[in-house]
Amino acid sequence: MSAENLILIGVAIVAILGAIGAFAIAFKRSQPEKDPLEGLSEETRRADRSMAGVRVEPIVTTSDAVAEDEEATTVEVEAEPEPEPEDEDEEEPEAVEVVRETRVVEVTTEEAGVSRRQFFNRALAATFGAFLALFGVDSLAFLWPKVTGGFGADIDAGPVSDLSAQAVTADGSIIPVFIPEARAYIVPAPTSLSAQYEGKSVEGGGLMALFQRCVHLGCRVPWCAPSQGFECPCHGSKYNSIGEYFAGPAPRNLDRFVVEVVGGRFIIKTGTILETPRAPTLSVNYPQGPSCIGAIAEE
Ligand code: FES
Repeated sequence: MSAENLILIGVAIVAILGAIGAFAIAFKRSQPEKDPLEGLSEETRRADRSMAGVRVEPIVTTSDAVAEDEEATTVEVEAEPEPEPEDEDEEEPEAVEVVRETRVVEVTTEEAGVSRRQFFNRALAATFGAFLALFGVDSLAFLWPKVTGGFGADIDAGPVSDLSAQAVTADGSIIPVFIPEARAYIVPAPTSLSAQYEGKSVEGGGLMALFQRCVHLGCRVPWCAPSQGFECPCHGSKYNSIGEYFAGPAPRNLDRFVVEVVGGRFIIKTGTILETPRAPTLSVNYPQGPSCIGAIAEE
């Protein structure tokens, strides 16, 4: 497994652990808080008017009601101004004395509900957890093809003998075999490999596997039978039959995959892409006929 894959797996694990931690914090904060006045005397509780979860209710009663309630505390007394008697014969209305009483009612955390601070803490933890979970899932999705055998895994292209027969026609001209799962062209390797490929396992059973993507800006590079090379229609880069740079804005040869032959079958390791600089001399002659594209953007 490459270092890049190990890093991605590590990031995914960290992201998943982070998401679990965020949810654990959110769960802990959602639990009822312990009564901060637990164990204190009733007098101390009453003295603490700044505690959370205390609701102050104004109550208005008449003086008669106050007299009946010995525990009520009189805070403020407002007396209605005595009206001027207009007529001595009329019966004077009885004066009403209004007494305002303040009563402190202690409520539990369940009755007080979720505070604004708790709400924001939970929302923040949930958002962070969702982000980390999404990141972890995306990382695993990126690695998934390596598990299921798609691009990025080792791909069995078939028997070497069959591929060799398909890649070279009776008259000796080349027709690359395209393997869609590997996004690769299989082409015959030259009898003498360039020094820049030595020891890099890019040849097996007399075949090579070239990445279909142009190294300039990523267009798929089609095969041109008349010239016996790959010619990019986007900006005119040209490569010979084994992907060595010939012309155009491409900065290097076509990329290629590490390959091996196992039990007579050609295996393309699409998880390992090899980049090589422009070949100083071509290993295979190019062009061998007319080009398939028009004027090229020579660099
Ligand atoms: S993408 Fe192929 S030459 Fe630009």
